[in-house]
Amino acid sequence: MITKQYIDDLKKEGNGAIGKLVKSQSDGGGITYILENLGYLPKDFDGSWLPALLEHKNKHVRLWATKTIGKLKDHTFIPYLEKTALEDEVTEIRREAVSSIGRQHSENSKKILYKILKDHDPKIVCQAIRALLVFKGTNDVDKKLKALIKHQNEVVTKVIYKEYFAKANEKKFDKPHTESYEYLKNVVVNDDVREVLKIIPNDSFHLTFTSPPYYNARDYSIYPSYKAYLDFLEEVFQLTYNKTKEGRFLIVNTSPIIIPRISRQHSSKRYPIPFDIHHFLSEMGWEFIDDIVWVKPEASVKNRVGGFMQHRKPLGYKPNSITEYLMVYRKQTSKLLDWNIRQYDQKIVEESKVKGEYESNNVWHIDPTFNKVHSAVFPIDLCKRVVEYYSYKGDLVFDPFGGSGTFGRTAKSLDRFFFLTEQDTKYFEYMKTNVKNDSLFNERKTQFLTISDFKKTISK
Ligand SMILES: C[S@@+](CC[C@H](N)C(=O)[O-])C[C@H]1O[C@@H](n2cnc3c(N)ncnc32)[C@H](O)[C@@H]1O
Repeated sequence: MITKQYIDDLKKEGNGAIGKLVKSQSDGGGITYILENLGYLPKDFDGSWLPALLEHKNKHVRLWATKTIGKLKDHTFIPYLEKTALEDEVTEIRREAVSSIGRQHSENSKKILYKILKDHDPKIVCQAIRALLVFKGTNDVDKKLKALIKHQNEVVTKVIYKEYFAKANEKKFDKPHTESYEYLKNVVVNDDVREVLKIIPNDSFHLTFTSPPYYNARDYSIYPSYKAYLDFLEEVFQLTYNKTKEGRFLIVNTSPIIIPRISRQHSSKRYPIPFDIHHFLSEMGWEFIDDIVWVKPEASVKNRVGGFMQHRKPLGYKPNSITEYLMVYRKQTSKLLDWNIRQYDQKIVEESKVKGEYESNNVWHIDPTFNKVHSAVFPIDLCKRVVEYYSYKGDLVFDPFGGSGTFGRTAKSLDRFFFLTEQDTKYFEYMKTNVKNDSLFNERKTQFLTISDFKKTISK
């Protein structure tokens, strides 16, 4: 039996013994095992038998042969790698060949990598960019790579932007990333969110979590048409984008809704709100991160399946809707999340760590909360998870559609500051009563302001 030790001993003999061993193998599995266990290769290693393996029918053999050639750093193998990079049918092997070409660090490898930049597969192009970036700072390479800013693929242009253009376009901010304006901390403003956002500075919020009005399904806000409703949300989320700090999150809680039929002669209409808002959020620069599904117990939702239960006729099937979405977005940036985290003191990072149990998947089972005054309040548990997973202690979090203030109260209980807007005076007044009854909400003074009072606090 061939063991790792045996392979290691043969390798050191430096007389082509490994090549002979490989040739004696009757199947791809044996060859792969040898190649996988070769490890570091001595300078005098004879790899002349390797190029033939690039044509082997077993893809694992081809992959490991490509990797092994990469280790040899022998430019005479470049033409074989080039052929594999351009022609192999397995993407992983093509990528490996590109990276092995890059490892040769020669003028010749540069020329081949330029050719590979024209590949039809963006993953291969990115691999060639990565290999060429080793030469960053040399005129010819920089010129070739910078030109890719016009490439049709978004991942390619993002990489090139970060490497060559991001620094020059870096914005200067009035406040350090972790800090926010005092007059925005623990404030509720009673007005249309759009009017309020227009008067606050850009780059103010660390996190926004909100549940927008459900088009015309509830009484608290009515729109003349679905289009008018979507236009309204587009304006709110564009303003929110401007007011959000670099690389921070927006989480939108929505679900498809149903507007009931006017009579038995007509049908009800269903509106896919999450799917209709996604495209404009993404267009304005909110980068899609995750879709979390909030699942409620079936007994807590409206029964739609009752009719079907009786008649059992196909086409008449209407399942009970027990889910809502939490769509998670991040404000576009060329910086990694690590950059955001590094802005905080070590102490804050430690204190903000999520302790104990946490949700490991994107299906969150949480009971809904019912409230006598407001018909669509967030459950506290939902807010807790969002605050803990997407913000740090001392951050300023925002809910444009404050409602009964659940998100603000929860954020405050977790040592974050909040800023809420709510246009309906009934709910604004209700929030005030909530404060009185809620010691946590009351701990640090909360200000309830009209927009004109709020303006005065800004100009102070
Ligand atoms: C789905 S509810 C949010 C409930 C909230 N998440 C809670 O836990 O109580 C949406 C809220 O947005 C408010 N709203 C609607 N249009 C608004 C606007 N233009 N500006 C501010 N608030 C608005 C409604 O009055 C309603 O209270």
